[in-house]
Amino acid sequence: MPTAARPFAHHGIAFGCDYNPEQWTAEVWDEDIRLMGEAGVDLVAINIFGWSHIEPRAGEYDFRVLDDVIGRLHAAGIRVNLGTGTASPPAWLALSHPEILPMAEDGTRRFPGGRQAWCPSSAVFRAAALRLVEAVAGRYGEHPAVALWHVSNELGCHNALCYCDESAAAFRRWLEAKYDNLDALNAAWGTAFWSQTYRQWDEILPPRATISTRNPAQVLDFHRFSSDELLSHYGAEADVIRPLSAAPVTTNFMVTAHIENLDYWSWAGEMDIVANDHYLDHRLADPTAELAFAADLSRGLGGGAPWILMEHSTGAVNWQPLNKPKQPGEILRNSLTHVARGADGVCFFQWRASVQGSEKFHSAMLPHAGTDSAVWREVVELGAVVERLAEVAGTRVEARTALVFSWESWWATQTESRPSQALGYLDQVHAAYGALHALGLTVDIVAPGADLADYALVVVPGLHLIRAGEAAVLTDWIAAGGTAVVTFYSGIVDQDDRVWTGGYTGPLREALGVRIEEFAPIAPGAELQLSDGSTSTLWSERSHATTAEVVASFADGPSAGSPAITRNTWGDGTAWYVGTLLEPGAFRDLLGRIADETGVRPAATVRGGDGALEIVRRRGTDASYLFVVNHGRASASAEASGFELITGMPVTGDVDVPGGAVRIIREEAAA
Ligand code: GAL
Repeated sequence: MPTAARPFAHHGIAFGCDYNPEQWTAEVWDEDIRLMGEAGVDLVAINIFGWSHIEPRAGEYDFRVLDDVIGRLHAAGIRVNLGTGTASPPAWLALSHPEILPMAEDGTRRFPGGRQAWCPSSAVFRAAALRLVEAVAGRYGEHPAVALWHVSNELGCHNALCYCDESAAAFRRWLEAKYDNLDALNAAWGTAFWSQTYRQWDEILPPRATISTRNPAQVLDFHRFSSDELLSHYGAEADVIRPLSAAPVTTNFMVTAHIENLDYWSWAGEMDIVANDHYLDHRLADPTAELAFAADLSRGLGGGAPWILMEHSTGAVNWQPLNKPKQPGEILRNSLTHVARGADGVCFFQWRASVQGSEKFHSAMLPHAGTDSAVWREVVELGAVVERLAEVAGTRVEARTALVFSWESWWATQTESRPSQALGYLDQVHAAYGALHALGLTVDIVAPGADLADYALVVVPGLHLIRAGEAAVLTDWIAAGGTAVVTFYSGIVDQDDRVWTGGYTGPLREALGVRIEEFAPIAPGAELQLSDGSTSTLWSERSHATTAEVVASFADGPSAGSPAITRNTWGDGTAWYVGTLLEPGAFRDLLGRIADETGVRPAATVRGGDGALEIVRRRGTDASYLFVVNHGRASASAEASGFELITGMPVTGDVDVPGGAVRIIREEAAA
């Protein structure tokens, strides 16, 4: 959890963007700053990719442009989120030190010419980066415009896993610190298998490309090591900044679909405030639900504290197979979904659309079309709305439901050899979250082993890797009266990727009251019938209920007759188990029934609507704020009274939320 040693002090909800003035002339900067004023921009991230501009040759600094830009922004009352500039090393560094370049698992180096071409364990890179940070923090550390430090950029976006010799040596040091001796490492990695026993530390390598499948425990530890290496890089930059500046320090996380390499549970405590970048992923079945999930996870990383949406887009990105623009009104809806879910800042990548470089077809606040464009008008409208939400800043989201999320389970699920290559951790997480989202329930995302005392309902999707202690927290909480829903492929391995024996789900088995003997996945696209008339995909298992009541069983397929959905009384609580991937409607109905039984409800009663609705309450000391975001076309109505902040009107009883609209009601009376 963040220490919040240095609070991010800002008036209201921050509104801003990445700004890359080095791509433009001074005349353009003048127009930029004027238009930023028009849009209400008050926080601008600069110098993210500034290295080759401010250090054109080794040890030779040129801050003239940065001085000028910071001065102009400050004069316009715009605060600066100052990049340390180390994200993308300059060409001179790679030329003089090619050993900083990252190495892929097949032993080939990556060339410069893109960005982030550096090995996280490179001592030469680290030293060069820290010299730059010292120069930047020394120059601007006390500048009144600097509101926040932005270390590097999306650490690990491209270079999280490096397999070079320097990384190998660092990996060995990390392993020695973890295991102390080779006997412990051999035991943890199960190296008795395939004659892999290590007798000297030097024999150990990163999990480079092998002729057959790799040791999954080695791969798991390499993930942990790689996440720690980049966190140590963050810490090293932050340590240089802190004595030179009183401003808070953070970096932008990538809590977004498909980015799996950093265990942000271990990172978040090092941030003064959690910041996240989120882009809608149109490859997913339900991108809007995933947006809500990412926002809830960003909040969870900070232990519920407000966080900053550091980047999102006004329209299309440039890196998906098909890059879709946003629907009319979607910029507002998506931005306010993040705010509803705890963001105290809404920023975009980027301010002005580039006309050169590989991101020239990425959307921006100020598009190629200029100010005579729908995007610009929506940006200005959003800025005005954000301004009206100042009083929401600092309030906290209320939730009675939690979902357990684990990067370690993600890594351990997706090893090379698994029961089905179609089995993905995130798919299970998204399926469970999507069902809760469709029910309008507010969900906190928590780490395995987190205290669950605040929750009535806890959902545990596919928690493949579980430690005995983490399982005990969950089962004790159930015994004390909680209701949990655990889904398949949970409780399979321990922290070393060693199978829990005696029948899956290992340390959860007794509480769930079901014993699984054998996995029986089915082909992608195939469907299973369940005894209650619903259908499912992907997974079945041969099991029997020990103490649980069978709610539905497999009616066909390789596990016909085995339980598919069970419910067990455990102490004063209830433990549900779902041994298949229910089709979305059935999953939603099941979780809806369980939520009803548990007394968990949406933050307000909402009627109507024909699409997804966000219904979230943020509570402060003096007032609470009910957010209703209507992603559909049909009108919905919410039971609420108070003052509506977007329309500026008092409301009593029933608040109309037209299709595509957002309403935020300040509820003066305790809700
Ligand atoms: C982020 C990155 C930005 C920009 C953006 C495009 O990953 O931090 O610099 O590349 O994606 O979507």
